[in-house]
Amino acid sequence: MVVGHDRFSGRPAATGRRKDGGRSYDQGWQREIESGSAFPYNGLLGTGILGAIDWFEHGCISSKRGKSRIAPKREFFVRKAMDSSVAARGAEADRRLFQAVACSALNQRGLTEIQMASSNTILVTGGAGYIGSHACKALAHAGFTPVSYDNLVYGHRWAVRWGPLEEGDIGDRARLDAVIAQYRPAAVMHFAAYAYVGESVLNPGKYYRNNVVGSLTLLEAMRDHGIGQLVFSSTCATYGEPQRVPIDEGHVQRPINPYGASKLMIERMLGDFATAHGLNWIALRYFNAAGADPDAEIGERHDPETHLIPLVLDAAAGIRPSITVYGDDYDTPDGTCIRDYIHVSDLSDAHVLALRSLQSGGPSVAYNLGNGQGFSVREVIAHAGEITGRDIPVVLGPRRPGDPPRLVADASQAQEVLGWQPRYPSLDEIIASAWRWHQWHAPAPPTSESRTALPI
Ligand SMILES: NC(=O)c1ccc[n+]([C@@H]2O[C@H](COP(=O)([O-])OP(=O)(O)OC[C@H]3O[C@@H](n4cnc5c(N)ncnc54)[C@H](O)[C@@H]3O)[C@@H](O)[C@H]2O)c1
Repeated sequence: MVVGHDRFSGRPAATGRRKDGGRSYDQGWQREIESGSAFPYNGLLGTGILGAIDWFEHGCISSKRGKSRIAPKREFFVRKAMDSSVAARGAEADRRLFQAVACSALNQRGLTEIQMASSNTILVTGGAGYIGSHACKALAHAGFTPVSYDNLVYGHRWAVRWGPLEEGDIGDRARLDAVIAQYRPAAVMHFAAYAYVGESVLNPGKYYRNNVVGSLTLLEAMRDHGIGQLVFSSTCATYGEPQRVPIDEGHVQRPINPYGASKLMIERMLGDFATAHGLNWIALRYFNAAGADPDAEIGERHDPETHLIPLVLDAAAGIRPSITVYGDDYDTPDGTCIRDYIHVSDLSDAHVLALRSLQSGGPSVAYNLGNGQGFSVREVIAHAGEITGRDIPVVLGPRRPGDPPRLVADASQAQEVLGWQPRYPSLDEIIASAWRWHQWHAPAPPTSESRTALPI
C-alpha cells in the first residue's frame, strides 16, 4: 500500500517525487512574495530578517547543491519579504523563531531538500535504547552523524557510542527546540516509546501520553523547524489478530492492545502531517527484533526484559531459574506460538535505506520488516540450547490473552522497493550474536519487577 503525497503540494500522489525539479514552485514563491499578500510568514520574515540573512548564508543553503538551486535568489527573497512584511516589526531579530518559520515555509514549498543537503545529522529519538543504538551504529557507518535524544527511562548511556547523547523527553517541546536548533538535523528517526504490551493494557494512559502525545510534540517541532523527513518505529502489533499469514502491509490494522493502538495512531498522524505540511515519512513495522551487534559492542538490555531470546539466554546462563512457555496447545506443529525474529542489525540497515529513500524522493509508506520465516517458542529454546551448550529449564504456563498463534511477516515490499536484504536471516545467527553479547556483558540478575512483568 502506497500512501504517498506530493512533497510540494501535499496532495496525495503515487510517489513523492516531482518531475519538474520544483522550478515552478520557486517561481510561485517569488510571485507570492512580490504580491506581498499570499505569503503567510511576511510579518515574521520581517522581524527575523537579520537572523535570516545569516541563516540563509550559513545554514539552510550552505551546500553546493542548494546554492546552485536557489542561492542566487536568496537576497531577493529575503529583501522582498522584508519590504512586504507587516512594517518589519522592529530590528530585534528573533533568529530561532525565524528559522523555524522559514524552514516551515521552505518545507511547504518542497524546498526541504535544500536543508537536507546541508546536513548529515540525524536526530535519533530513543537512540540510547536497544534498536535505536544499533541504528546509530548503522547511520555512522553510512556516513551520517546520529544525535541521540533520549530521556534514559529505559536507555543506557553506554549504548550511545556513535554520536552525542542529548538527554530529553520527546514530550518536552522547549528541550526539543533547543536540541534541534543546536544540531539542525536533516531528518529524524523516531524510536522513543514505551513498548510493554501487558503494561499498556493495565495503564493505557501512560502509553497514549508517551507514545502518541510525545510523537505529536515531536512532529510539531519538526514541522516548525522545517525537518521534513521521518523514519518511524512501528510494529506488527498495529495489525492485531492476523486474518492471514504471512502478513503484508495491506492487512487490516486492528490492534488489540493500547500499545499497538498508540503506534497506529502515530502512523495516522504521519499521513495527516504529510497532507497538511508535506512531511515525508516511512513507518517500519518490525516483527520480533532480536540479536545483538555482531561486534558485540552493544546489545539488548531491557529491564524488565520480556523478549523471548534474552530470557532464554538468561535461563541458559543461570541468571534466571527457567523460561516459561505460555501455552502449548495452540494450532501449531508443536503447540507453541510462532514468531518471526529479525536481527537488530538488519532492522538498522533498513532504517538507513528508508532514510536514503526519503532523501531521494521515495514514497511515504509503511514497510514490514521480518524474515518471513516463523519459529515456535520450543524451536527457539532448542536452538538456544544447542548454541549455548547449556540445559535450559522450561516451565509450562497458561496461555496469555491476546497472543496470536502465528505472526510472520511478508517483507517483500521492503526488499523490492528499498533494496533491503537481511544479512543475518538465520535464527542461529540471531541467537549466536545475542549469546556473544550476553556472555561478554552478562546482565545483572533481574529485579523482582522484571520477574513478574507481563511479557510482550
Ligand atoms: N523490540 C522489538 O521487538 C520491537 C518490535 C516492534 C516495534 N518496536 C519499537 O521500536 C522502538 C524501539 O524499541 P526498543 O526495543 O529499542 O525499546 P527500548 O526501550 O530499548 O528503546 C526505547 C528508548 O526510548 C527512550 N524513551 C522512551 N520514552 C521516551 C521519551 N518520552 N522521551 C525520550 N526518550 C524516550 C527509552 O529511554 C529507550 O532508550 C519502540 O518504538 C518500539 O515500540 C520494538
